[in-house]
Amino acid sequence: MIITVDGPAAAGKGTLSQKLADKYGLAYFDTGMVYRAVGLMMLKQTLELSDACAAQKMAGELTFATMMELSRDKDFRSSIGGQAASIVSSYSGVRAQLLDMQRNFAKNPTFADGSPANGVIYDGRDTGTVICPHADVKFFITASSEVRAKRRYDEFLQKGMNVLFDDVLRDVKARDERDANRKDAPMKPAEDAIILDTSDLNIDEVFQKAVAFIEERLK
Ligand code: DC
Repeated sequence: MIITVDGPAAAGKGTLSQKLADKYGLAYFDTGMVYRAVGLMMLKQTLELSDACAAQKMAGELTFATMMELSRDKDFRSSIGGQAASIVSSYSGVRAQLLDMQRNFAKNPTFADGSPANGVIYDGRDTGTVICPHADVKFFITASSEVRAKRRYDEFLQKGMNVLFDDVLRDVKARDERDANRKDAPMKPAEDAIILDTSDLNIDEVFQKAVAFIEERLK
């Protein structure tokens, strides 16, 4: 089974995906990681994020193992890492280089320990439209920018990071703006996606709704 979970930054894609992966025994691919990895490689090598050619080259050199290694870096999930990812992900050459790596994962999905999974859950904003248009179930998770900024702000605080809410909100809006205007992977639900607005729902409510849709689809 292949499930895709698309939607804007901090809408709750990751939490929902993890819970669904656990319930259905699916391997989880957080596709934002490929862009975070390329962005971080650029930063570490002090390359200009505006250099699309350099970013494309970095993307071509990225392996799954390198991505996993970079994911342990303190900047990988930080606001700086998110901005860098957002910038490099706007280059079509970068996206093209990273397509096979993401698609190939579904051919032989495994968990981190190498054991086989029942399928994959892809988390990321173009997974239902570009990466896996033939997925069995597609979700598009959204919420207002204020609600999303508050969730991200709380996450940062929990991790002990010192941030201001207004900065996080500005960051979320800047990313929305950039992501919405991308030519090759604009932020839009797949035609057959189930749209879930999570602004007024807690994670358990979102999860229950998603499970109900999946059970219906599996009948
Ligand atoms: O989900 P995230 O915050 O880790 O994503 C980081 C950036 O990567 C985000 O600003 C846009 C980009 N991204 C993308 O373009 N396509 C995806 N499938 C996932 C993420």
